[in-house]
Amino acid sequence: MPSVYIKTYGCQMNERDSEAVAAQLVAKGYTLAVSEHAADVVLLNTCSVRDNAEQTALGKMQAIAGDLRRSRPDVVLGFMGCMAQSRGRELVDRLPDVDLVLGTQKFHRAADYLDDLLSGRREKVVDVEAEPGSESAIREHVLNGRGGRAVTAFVSIMQGCNQHCTFCIVPFTRGPERSRTIPDIVSECRQLAEQGVREVTLLGQIVTSYGRRERPIQEGKSGFVQLLEAVQAIEGLERIRFTSPHPKGYGDDLVEAYKRLPKLVESAHLPVQSGSNRVLKLMHRGYTRERFLEIISKLRAVRPNMGLTTDIIVGFPGETEADFEETLALCREVEFDNAFLFKYSPRKDTPAAAMSDQVPIEVIEERHARILSVINEVGARRYAALISRRMQILVEGPSKKNAARMMGRTRCNRIVVFDGADRHRGQLMDVQIVKSGLFTLYADPAIVNLPGSGTSVHDEPFVPCGPAHRP
Ligand code: SAH
Ligand code: F3S
Repeated sequence: MPSVYIKTYGCQMNERDSEAVAAQLVAKGYTLAVSEHAADVVLLNTCSVRDNAEQTALGKMQAIAGDLRRSRPDVVLGFMGCMAQSRGRELVDRLPDVDLVLGTQKFHRAADYLDDLLSGRREKVVDVEAEPGSESAIREHVLNGRGGRAVTAFVSIMQGCNQHCTFCIVPFTRGPERSRTIPDIVSECRQLAEQGVREVTLLGQIVTSYGRRERPIQEGKSGFVQLLEAVQAIEGLERIRFTSPHPKGYGDDLVEAYKRLPKLVESAHLPVQSGSNRVLKLMHRGYTRERFLEIISKLRAVRPNMGLTTDIIVGFPGETEADFEETLALCREVEFDNAFLFKYSPRKDTPAAAMSDQVPIEVIEERHARILSVINEVGARRYAALISRRMQILVEGPSKKNAARMMGRTRCNRIVVFDGADRHRGQLMDVQIVKSGLFTLYADPAIVNLPGSGTSVHDEPFVPCGPAHRP
């Protein structure tokens, strides 16, 4: 049977899509290759959020084609995901070595199309059509995370976004909002739990809009909160994360959910984009700086140790020095644990790309460097404040940087590296933090095996973490 290599660019949604395509192909008998050099099929799962991401994938495909086509003319090369969706046939015209272009609503057709291409029935396949029901069409997982049994899994709960922020291409590449049903999502999560998964991350471009049309508000609870309650009830699952919510849809019912649902971890990724009301309005974000800060303070009132991360765009058209300083001030005020910083990139057919006062690249670079140093400084301080704390981690597997050590995550989503063994995989355990690096914590191995730390934590619903907690 053929072997496939899939390279993923971009967000967690893309990681999840790649995994589902891999699972689909494995079920058909494919093997998974470790690099493009050993593969009969090479698929690049692409991102369109910034031009940079597109250029990287285009460059990679060009290099692969130049490299592999000569030695192995039969290798099948394909683009899938967001750039495949937004550029479609143009990709084949531009790179004639590409055999397959698979849009974001067509992942479930990957095996059939590859069959056609490998058998020579078709020479090229470009499919970027819309497909009703595609949000529920892929639910398979390959559960071999970090060199062994997977402990965590991504579960896609919806596709698309209707918000149309003026900078964003996602509503075009992912289409309008479509939500899966609660029973469908719960049954996927239950299966994962039966296979040993302890933590799920519920994924969508705008999860706070989950089920907006299909599930009416019940007892003041939105469709998304109803879903969280249903997932909370699944036996065997210990932790629930989700990404990304939108501040606009972040109602009190969701804040309240943190009071009631112990599996909901104290970690929130809440994209702010800018700290200036003027810019937020130009971005069509639908909230103000004051409203964003209000949500943060409500969340911290319920869970004082909340780990908070965000997305920020630097150099949105018309962003002045004063606007930018408001973003800097907001970062200092909120004290995010980390932030994903994006240099503004004009995207095809988005209103912001046509705005007249684009910010020069040198200014974007300079602001980016300034905000990065604030984020790093605050992050380092928040991480260092955890030294000597005892925290609960879920052990996921060997550390990426040093396979001889193990890594886990705290409930507030901080990575902890410690000297453990494979038998710790999948365990919730207490560790004592001894050192902090930039966005990584190190735990004392001796503490891991102390009586009462590694074994008793299963009885506790959770051990809170973060600077506000002093054991
Ligand atoms: N709601 C989605 C957002 C997807 S895009 C989610 O978080 O899942 C991810 C981030 O990319 C956005 O939050 C934004 O900060 C950034 N981004 C989107 N379009 C951009 C553009 N044109 N230029 C720079 N950054 C952009
Ligand atoms: Fe993009 Fe805004 Fe939706 S950032 S994904 S249009 S909420």
